[in-house]
Amino acid sequence: MAERFNQPLVEAAEAKPGDRVLDLASGIGEPGLSLLKAIQPGGRLVLSDLVPEMLQGAVRRFRDRGLAADFVVQDAQRLAFAGESFDLVTCRFGIMFFPEPRVALTETARVLGPGGRAVFLVWGRLADNPMFQVTRGAVEAVLGADPRQRDPFRHAEPGALCADALAAGLVAYAERELDFERHAKVGEPFWQAPLEMTSGGRLGGLDPGSRASLEAEVVRRLEPFRDGGGYRLGARIRVVTARKPA
Ligand SMILES: C[S@@+](CC[C@H](N)C(=O)[O-])C[C@H]1O[C@@H](n2cnc3c(N)ncnc32)[C@H](O)[C@@H]1O
Repeated sequence: MAERFNQPLVEAAEAKPGDRVLDLASGIGEPGLSLLKAIQPGGRLVLSDLVPEMLQGAVRRFRDRGLAADFVVQDAQRLAFAGESFDLVTCRFGIMFFPEPRVALTETARVLGPGGRAVFLVWGRLADNPMFQVTRGAVEAVLGADPRQRDPFRHAEPGALCADALAAGLVAYAERELDFERHAKVGEPFWQAPLEMTSGGRLGGLDPGSRASLEAEVVRRLEPFRDGGGYRLGARIRVVTARKPA
């Protein structure tokens, strides 16, 4: 599913040979992995993330494929790069987790060269992403709401991220809203990743009984989405593109 979400981001990035690319909140390596080929020869790819353990996953995946990139552990709100160091900044499903997205966008504008591009992939509204309605509802029913949890849907409204980008000095934005359909087989744990994302890191500390109750609640809440031998759920994303004035 993430692979399908990746495609419109990669298209919007318009990466070309020689581009210097910074990916923020890279996690285990996308969209960096998909962009690498387009910037060769002569390009430079930097993957960055606040959490070293996440970035280790990216290091391993690049190494396993014999691919080269730079990996930097850093907060997207405090980039350790000189101004105008990059032609392209990307971020897939990351900006909603930054405490101050506008600060990260201002940093993005600073490190981009004149005419440089920034492309962000964010979720559409919760109502249009039933997978997360299911996992969020299950977490709240079994564990209770977590007030510290960042809202993965904070840029879901049309224009919300564009407004932040404009405030940070980026211009000429474009926004695409895209709908997808997820098909999964009964018994496949396809809901694990969304559950991790909506549980705010609380899964690790759960006793086996609570974990089993939570998983059973997810499966119960998936029932309305049964379609024959599997499940069918819609998903909506936004691809937001901005530019630094030339
Ligand atoms: C949902 S994951 C997305 C990872 C990857 N881009 C992908 O799409 O698979 C969100 C990532 O944001 C990172 N993150 C959260 N806050 C951050 C911050 N302030 N600066 C940089 N990365 C951050 C997390 O460590 C995590 O790897």
